[in-house]
Amino acid sequence: WSQTAHKVAGELHVGGLAVPELVANVNTPAYVLDEADFRARARAFRDAFAEYDVFYAGKAFLCTAVARWVQEEGLSLDVCSDGELTVALRAGFDPARIGYHGNNKSQIELRRAVAEGVGRIIVDSFDEIARLESVTAESGTTARVMIRVTAGVEAHTHEYIATAHEDQKFGFSITSGDAFEAVRRVQAAPGIELLGLHSHIGSQIFDSSGFEVAARRVLALQARVSEELGVTLPEMDLGGGFGIAYTTQDDPSDPAQLATEMSKIVEHECRALGIPEPRLSIEPGRAIVGPAMCTVYTVGTVKRVELDGGAVRTYVSVDGGMSDNIRTALYDADYSCTIASRASDAPPVLARVVGKHCEAGDVVVKDEFLPGDIRPGDLVAVPGTGAYCRSMASNYNHALRPPVVAVRDGVARVVVRRETVDDLLATDMGDQ
Ligand code: LLP
Repeated sequence: WSQTAHKVAGELHVGGLAVPELVANVNTPAYVLDEADFRARARAFRDAFAEYDVFYAGKAFLCTAVARWVQEEGLSLDVCSDGELTVALRAGFDPARIGYHGNNKSQIELRRAVAEGVGRIIVDSFDEIARLESVTAESGTTARVMIRVTAGVEAHTHEYIATAHEDQKFGFSITSGDAFEAVRRVQAAPGIELLGLHSHIGSQIFDSSGFEVAARRVLALQARVSEELGVTLPEMDLGGGFGIAYTTQDDPSDPAQLATEMSKIVEHECRALGIPEPRLSIEPGRAIVGPAMCTVYTVGTVKRVELDGGAVRTYVSVDGGMSDNIRTALYDADYSCTIASRASDAPPVLARVVGKHCEAGDVVVKDEFLPGDIRPGDLVAVPGTGAYCRSMASNYNHALRPPVVAVRDGVARVVVRRETVDDLLATDMGDQ
């Protein structure tokens, strides 16, 4: 739950507002974004990593308001598409403080990034280096880049979101020699200035040993670059991926502790390798926005199913589902939930919160104990939905993607409005 969330007589309050009142105005499903919580988490990273640069990973969730908060709190911004870049620029984000990711940026995207003066482009392939060379040659400008390397780490997270093992699409392999070759090519390219190496090992990671191994391997490459090419790389980025608590079983990342651990490793390794310490940057997304949002749904139907062995599972259908939170279906993610609209003394029952989409895998919360008298009309709130829920939302079954309502000090602001049927029909050209 976000920091201002608490219950008053069974009613959930966030940002000084009663959630039932709030959704009476905007309807459900709705994402409720606790602005103070978001800012506090952003600040905690910025303060803990005061000597480093912190890039908020916009892919977790981005809109104009959030881009402004990120800038106001003194963080930089990581984007990974022309769409995200457009939002950032529209918010007035300083392009020099934007990092641009992606394993397949097009010539058009690169051209725009260079023209807008994006601070760093994280190059991911030899094809991209060639593309960037032609873009800078045609514009006569210089692009500042980081090289994304594959540190060969097995991050302990879901297979789909682990990114530093060899057999996946991102980055240049250190082991194969590609990463060194990429450095050589970028160094030789006239319109490209190399800032340093970049590694991102995956997402929703709790064990810091993965970062440690990655840092060691990246720094070893850095030492080789310095020795064989005589080049000192001033920066290094260790990516994002810091885990958050989705249920009471998880232990959330602590920015201060992360900062201490990371600087210790980098300092130690650099001393051992005899190279100067690069300026570090990191890219947290989930750890900043994840806990800051919850999703509020209205219960529509309740069905009880007797399981083998006689236990009962209560299926609670809500008015959203996999179109506003695909994470449970896609990653087998764990969420929790609570009734947000009233208190209840009814004994708890084992419940599964499901959506309204046309498939059985449309599950939001796999298992949760909810009051046995849960019924249509109740509001259910799911915490921890700030990251990769609205940003990965779809229009499956022509669902209208829910609004994001920012709350702060008793005031609510719709920062992303609910889609309308007209929004959907706008792209449907009819049978012309
Ligand atoms: N930097 C890079 C290069 C990344 O690829 C990512 C996430 C991040 C930073 C931010 O990672 P975070 O701190 O948010 O974990 N859709 C998946 C997560 C995909 C992560 C993609 N890259 C999910 O819902 O779990």
